[in-house]
Amino acid sequence: MAAQSMEELVALCKRRGFIFQASDIYGGLQGVYDYGPLGVELKNNLKAAWWRAMVYERDDVEGLDAAILTNRAVLKYSGHENTFSDPLVDCRNCKSRWRADHLQDSKCPSCGSTDLTEPRAFNLMFKTHIGPVEDEESIAYLRPETAQSTFVNFKNVLDSTSRRLPFGIAQIGKAFRNEITCRNFIFRVRELEQMELEYFVEPGSDEEWHSRWIEMRLDWWVRQGLSENNLKLEQHAKEALSHYSKATTDIMYRFPHGLEELEGIANRTDFDLGSHTRNQQDYDIQANVIENRESNSKLAIQDLATKQWIVPFVIEPAAGVDRGVLALMTEAYRIEELENGSKRTVLGLAPHLAPIKVAVLSLRRNVPEMVEKAKEIKRTLQSLGLGRILFEDTGNIGKGYRRHDEVGTPICVTVDFQTIQEDDTVTIRDRDSMTQERLPAAELSEYVRTYFRTG
Ligand code: GAP
Repeated sequence: MAAQSMEELVALCKRRGFIFQASDIYGGLQGVYDYGPLGVELKNNLKAAWWRAMVYERDDVEGLDAAILTNRAVLKYSGHENTFSDPLVDCRNCKSRWRADHLQDSKCPSCGSTDLTEPRAFNLMFKTHIGPVEDEESIAYLRPETAQSTFVNFKNVLDSTSRRLPFGIAQIGKAFRNEITCRNFIFRVRELEQMELEYFVEPGSDEEWHSRWIEMRLDWWVRQGLSENNLKLEQHAKEALSHYSKATTDIMYRFPHGLEELEGIANRTDFDLGSHTRNQQDYDIQANVIENRESNSKLAIQDLATKQWIVPFVIEPAAGVDRGVLALMTEAYRIEELENGSKRTVLGLAPHLAPIKVAVLSLRRNVPEMVEKAKEIKRTLQSLGLGRILFEDTGNIGKGYRRHDEVGTPICVTVDFQTIQEDDTVTIRDRDSMTQERLPAAELSEYVRTYFRTG
């Protein structure tokens, strides 16, 4: 059974080094988190799985890693300066601040008062200044989504790769939103990471591609280990659509605090490319066609047969890395009752996501030959390039197994006296079944390689 409460997960994350409150020793920074030794591995594995599926396993997607600091004009013409805001209300009684659309029965969630101010639009973008002078001219923004930096690179990528429609640009990176209230751990944060694909298609084929991407993305999350029972598709009502979207479907996940958005898949139409192009060129965006114009700043693609310029429509699967980590941990966390009446906590992560792939344990820490053998196995397995292999000589194998169950290590390998004195075999212990088997050390690399290929 998945984690039932956020407290369980938060405690595990701190205890085992997955996620810490940022700036903790100075009282923290609200809505900002640091990923610890195991958290960074899990996060990197999730991002690598996304990149593999989006870029390496497809033939129609290019990668990009664009800057976070963004020219003000980009976010002016994208519509963010005017519309990227949430409705803010103040409670006159206890002075707390809330998002009006998150209130129930128009009551302050903190003190229950209904004496609230009228909602006013609060822009979520973090503003900064470039250079030493803080004036209107020097304003820049920390990007609120990776998407805009992809759109303004459309022509750079197109010209350097000679892509034809349909094709996509994938990007993973940080984004920043000055959220009014941050709650539920890493679910809603002010410094977040996104995995966004902008998939450019012929106008007219957009609805079909939208449906296809919804299906592909749902299937991908299931392959990362999320149960179909905890996932749901939810279509946005017309009045709830973002300013750029013609249709959006969210992939919802049953987090400990409720069913909430994990990823949004939007049909952004030609809104963004059109808007950035309209800034540079005077043309009728509704026509989706720019008649025989040549310009370096035109975010459009030329149809080779007709020579007409087309502003592609964009289908955008946009997922949050932090929400992905939270969903995977929620799903994987379980407490098992064992036959002897004791309990164990297990993080049943899919092997490709596990922060530590294999722990190599030495039964005794004071037997140099045993320790050296365990270190040698660690080096050999590390060279397979599967991810982090950990050597440990804490000397308590039972406790070691429990600790690795709790952080999701799929396999533990133990080197003992039989290994060094008798037959050079090691014990392999499986996280989920807890079964143990002996295997010649010489066969370990093949065993581990096969396990992670199929596991
Ligand atoms: N480019 C489109 C876009 O940014 P979004 O629905 O605002 O769309 C996409 O964000 C994904 O980014 C969300 O589904 C969510 O997973 C993640 N996300 C957005 N705001 C977040 C926040 N404050 N904290 C954590 N994740 C967030």
